Amino acid sequence: MKGVILAGGLGSRLYPLTHVTNKHLLPVYNKPMIHYPIATLVNAGINEILIVVSGPHVGHFLGILKNGEELGVKHLEYAYQEKPDGGISDALSLAESFADEKPICVILGDNTTDADISSAVSSFKEGATVFLKKVPDPERFGVPEFNADRKIIAIEEKPQKPKSDYAVTGLYIYDGKAFDYIRELKPSDRGQLEVSDLNNIYIEKGKLHWAELDGFWGDAGTFDSLLEASNYWKKNK
Ligand code: G1P
Repeated sequence: MKGVILAGGLGSRLYPLTHVTNKHLLPVYNKPMIHYPIATLVNAGINEILIVVSGPHVGHFLGILKNGEELGVKHLEYAYQEKPDGGISDALSLAESFADEKPICVILGDNTTDADISSAVSSFKEGATVFLKKVPDPERFGVPEFNADRKIIAIEEKPQKPKSDYAVTGLYIYDGKAFDYIRELKPSDRGQLEVSDLNNIYIEKGKLHWAELDGFWGDAGTFDSLLEASNYWKKNK
């Protein structure tokens, strides 16, 4: 399977740090943030990777990652998202020709985890898989609602009253239909093509699967979560 890392956006929650460089290149303890999602993919046996970039500092990615060889990547490609605030599904749409109608494993560039996703990757057949993690503050994330059989029946993006204490993390596996579904999406109230809306289409089709991440997971998109991630990786490097 190929992998896609979404590293666009303006990182405005981290101004003034993101005036200096792209959010995904800021340090998480002793490495640029994006090294962690690359390692998650490489550890799952994925070594063909597309990174979607945007914003004012896109040139920094090439200087830091080069061809990715030092990180175990065999084939590294970049795509440029014209609208940095177009949303995660808009960024993902740029991976269509790279995916070539086959399944892809997608990670948000600010998500760091030590969970091993290789069995979900190797057993994936069709539809989509989202990876969940129990969190104390689900209202910051996409939140799943379960039925009595523990099937996800809806995902709400940043709900005021979360229907579970799980976050839909920024790790996903999609089959080739994702790109057709993205074409059906309408911008949300914040003007973005939301990943939760894409996942809700898979729910409607009865094709959304989920797995729980075993281990540490955090995003690093706010000052507190960036510090938390750095502290975790300092102890567990
Ligand atoms: C995004 C997604 C959200 C997900 C989160 C994980 O939120 O929209 O569903 O739970 O990533 O990091 P954002 O960080 O863009 O606010």
